Amino acid sequence: MATTALPAQRRVLRRDLWWLEPLFIVVGLGLFVVYAFVTGVQTSGYHYAPYLSPFASPCISANCETYSFGRALLPAWFPPAFFVVWIPVAFRATCYFLRRSYYRAFFWSPPACAVPDARSGYTGETAFPFILQNVHRYAWYLAALLWVVDLYDALLAFHFPAGFGIGLGSVLMILDVVFLGLYVFSCHSCRYLCGGYLDRFHGKPVWHRMWSAVSRINTRHGVFFWLSLLFVVLTDLYIRLLVAGVITDPRIVFG
Ligand code: FES
Repeated sequence: MATTALPAQRRVLRRDLWWLEPLFIVVGLGLFVVYAFVTGVQTSGYHYAPYLSPFASPCISANCETYSFGRALLPAWFPPAFFVVWIPVAFRATCYFLRRSYYRAFFWSPPACAVPDARSGYTGETAFPFILQNVHRYAWYLAALLWVVDLYDALLAFHFPAGFGIGLGSVLMILDVVFLGLYVFSCHSCRYLCGGYLDRFHGKPVWHRMWSAVSRINTRHGVFFWLSLLFVVLTDLYIRLLVAGVITDPRIVFG
């Protein structure tokens, strides 16, 4: 009798909820990409003194509502987010953690452990376009630089027109920069740069301490990825709601 059963290597024997993780990734990343696109094309609503949305930082085009470095460096037709958006895109899209996640969730390559690959062949990251994933360590330098600018913005968020103070927006901006920092500095490329490239640590205690510190946070890299994504959205949304007059900012200003 003819059988229509799948070959053994194509069958899914797992009976647990293995599909939950890929589903979470598709929904989470999908929502973030839609939100980032919508907010990225806006030319206003991202600044509520002293808060500046991380999506619009550094703000250097002539139509900026504030200037990160004191003056405009680009013409007015340049939407604020467009200058920097390629840096986090290049950095996150080539992140080792995210690669694993979207290869599983979007390409089903494979969708989970012990679940067959949707494709019959495997070329790895040796051919175009996936060979471009190798730019990750270079994207790290730019992302680290951008983090310094975000830190500067977060510190300015305590500088109110009437003097030093603290508002809910200041707290959100600090949390955003903390989680972004944990994400950037727990990166595998950072771990490599902080001594991972050495064959041995004998006689190099400083490198060993740096490598150990990065290794400790590296184990939570995936968590920091999602937290940094969440807080960049929360911070931007909070500032936009303030600008729209939907909410008010609870704050204490010491003068
Ligand atoms: S490995 Fe994820 S940011 Fe570098």
